[in-house]
Amino acid sequence: MLKGKDLLSIHDLSVDEVNEILALAHDLKAKQKAGIEHHLLKGKTLGMIFEKSSTRTRLSFETGMYQLGGQALFLSNRDLQLGRGEPIKDTARVMSRYLDGIMIRTFGHDRVEEFAEWSDVPVINALTDLLHPCQVLTDLLTIQEHKGKNLKGLKMAYVGDGNNMTNSFMYGCAKAGINFVAATPEDYKPDMQVFANAVEDAKETGATIELVTDPFEAAKGADIVVTDTWASMGQEAEHDERKKIFKDYQVNADLLKQADKRVIVMHCLPAYRGEEITDEIMEAYADVIFDEAENRLHTQKAIMALLMGDY
Ligand code: CP
Ligand code: NVA
Repeated sequence: MLKGKDLLSIHDLSVDEVNEILALAHDLKAKQKAGIEHHLLKGKTLGMIFEKSSTRTRLSFETGMYQLGGQALFLSNRDLQLGRGEPIKDTARVMSRYLDGIMIRTFGHDRVEEFAEWSDVPVINALTDLLHPCQVLTDLLTIQEHKGKNLKGLKMAYVGDGNNMTNSFMYGCAKAGINFVAATPEDYKPDMQVFANAVEDAKETGATIELVTDPFEAAKGADIVVTDTWASMGQEAEHDERKKIFKDYQVNADLLKQADKRVIVMHCLPAYRGEEITDEIMEAYADVIFDEAENRLHTQKAIMALLMGDY
């Protein structure tokens, strides 16, 4: 179903395709833990373009390709002529002649879209200013592990900045049937076009997608509480100002009193303790949060196998 396609946004995936990715991710995780060979991409090469920093994304894509029997090439802006102004449409056509798939982490979402338009091989969005689909698919896998495979009817509360994670959560929850509410300051809401699309997508699963400004209202009865940095990559200069604006949007013990007793707390990392989350809560939910980090590997292996393999 997904063979040969790009993965730029969860919005572009059908509910069945989301479930197919999650099912294969569970399967590949079990195989890896059991030491069963799963060389689904033997002899294939993934190009990884990084125009922003990364710890988890680089490690998980690179290790994932190796475990699938292929290899990955790390390409920073300094390595590529792209960084010296070679057009995306030329770079994409050239890279397609050598590679079996391309992963991109960049700023404007339009850069990934343009790359995918000109590439003949699958393009995977590994974070743009607008979306971070691989992370949210990973988070769905992690929720299934901690809350059971049926995600329908769970409540997720996002607290903090309306950013690329919030946008992708709206799409992911809409497809998974998770009732989603984001609490952000009035001027830091997520993308309104994404919100409208997600509300439309959610009709298929019956999920609700809501935006509020009160974190306590959002956290009420939540099964999952999630947050992310107050200043994303590219917003470093606004960090001090944002610390003041977001001070009431912290995931801490007081906020969690509103949530369901069996709540889990998630964070895509990197986390800034004392800002969007306290050290106490990070450590209390470390089992979930570091499962979430590990699961990038398994989820992306599934994505790459489905897009670039012979499924
Ligand atoms: N969560 C995530 O994407 O981490 P990195 O920025 O370290 O890749
Ligand atoms: N919102 C964060 C996510 C990092 C994985 C950023 O874009 O920097």
